[in-house]
Amino acid sequence: MKIDTQIYQARRERLMQSLPENSVVIIRTGELSTRNNDCEYEFRPHSSFFYLTGFPEPSAYAIIQGRGEMTLVTLPKDPEREQWDGFRFGSEGAIAHFGATKAAVLAELDSVTFAALDGAAHVVYLFNDTILREKIASWRDAIAAKVRMGASAPTSFMDLTPVVSEMRLRKGAEEVAIMEVAAQISVEAHKQAMRAVRPGMREYQLEAELNYVFMRSGARQPAYNNIVASGHNACVLHYIKNDEVIDDGDLILIDAGAELGCYAADITRTFPANGKFSEPQAALYQVVLDAYHAGMKELTVGTPYEACHNAAVRTLTEGLVAHGLLVGDVNFLIESKAYRDFYMHNTGHWLGLDVHDCGAYKIAGESRLLEEGMVLTIEPGLYVSADNQAVDAKWRGIGIRIEDDVLIRADGPYVLTHGLPKEIKDIEALMAESR
Ligand code: GLY
Ligand code: MN
Ligand code: MN
Repeated sequence: MKIDTQIYQARRERLMQSLPENSVVIIRTGELSTRNNDCEYEFRPHSSFFYLTGFPEPSAYAIIQGRGEMTLVTLPKDPEREQWDGFRFGSEGAIAHFGATKAAVLAELDSVTFAALDGAAHVVYLFNDTILREKIASWRDAIAAKVRMGASAPTSFMDLTPVVSEMRLRKGAEEVAIMEVAAQISVEAHKQAMRAVRPGMREYQLEAELNYVFMRSGARQPAYNNIVASGHNACVLHYIKNDEVIDDGDLILIDAGAELGCYAADITRTFPANGKFSEPQAALYQVVLDAYHAGMKELTVGTPYEACHNAAVRTLTEGLVAHGLLVGDVNFLIESKAYRDFYMHNTGHWLGLDVHDCGAYKIAGESRLLEEGMVLTIEPGLYVSADNQAVDAKWRGIGIRIEDDVLIRADGPYVLTHGLPKEIKDIEALMAESR
């Protein structure tokens, strides 16, 4: 087992450099969760825990101090449990493979944390981890109860969230490399779905093509629940039932990305079940594509994050007016947010270990400026509700989104999900090959 401990060690060192003297960071990865009776979901580590440790097992805690020294608290080696549930690293493995300075087993958690927090000035943890918050309060109380014996309880508690989020927001070369592989596996999966779709299939039968390409390519899991939405289901933004029959004449919206080494890809394509866009489908599709291109122009270093969304909204609104779905002055329709009947989400989000990755979008109330190394999605869409009586019937039930993953580079946006058709003629040509 070869794990690049240097990368994680360097992250812990950078983390400690950005915290005040005598801080102690505590972070936990979480537990296996039950699906039903004694069946469990496959474990996936907490993203920030993984970012700082690389440790893959459940139930672990990391205590980080000094200049980045780490104590890993893990499940113990246990030959009987390992016979049933699989290998555990245990304390020896934590030191040998993960660069832990010290290691302990879970039964020692209270004594290890007592020792680490006694005399610490600042305890730094993720404030949204309510389970850990309670444990930290009880550890603090235990130390406070021993003051007369010379113990010294910490008095300052800091949220780890903004610190680790800013680190995760700017991707290192090693992260970009794995994200591009996840992106390209996902590109192949979407191409396969475009080739394999036939009217009459159920949506989940098409979904099987995605999962097959993910797994065969080395990505064990999707990064989030696959969305395979035919017809008006595409207007449900997080549709995951995926159990309806695909009809001839439907558009199909697939939003799916592979997870690789815990990093997410996030791609959406919308294409016709029978291989040919109808006229109204093509008209609205072209509006979304134009919005994609308008937004992409704004993904440059030094541009405010929100510029991409604003450009996409303007192009979408102009298109809605040109086709008669909205009536009135474009500026007024934007200011009054009239476009929201057809476009109710943002044009992207940060992408990384989490599909909706961490990192602030605004700083002091202002949209933050894009920097080299940030990765985000661009995902304009249009959704015309099937029961929208205010528009011509030919538009009703059409849902379209086009989504790619973009690395901000000094020389402009770099599309990690390159190579997947999105122009109408290119989608139709790819689909025609297999028909
Ligand atoms: N797949 C979720 C999203 O696109 O935000
Ligand atoms: Mn997305
Ligand atoms: Mn998506």
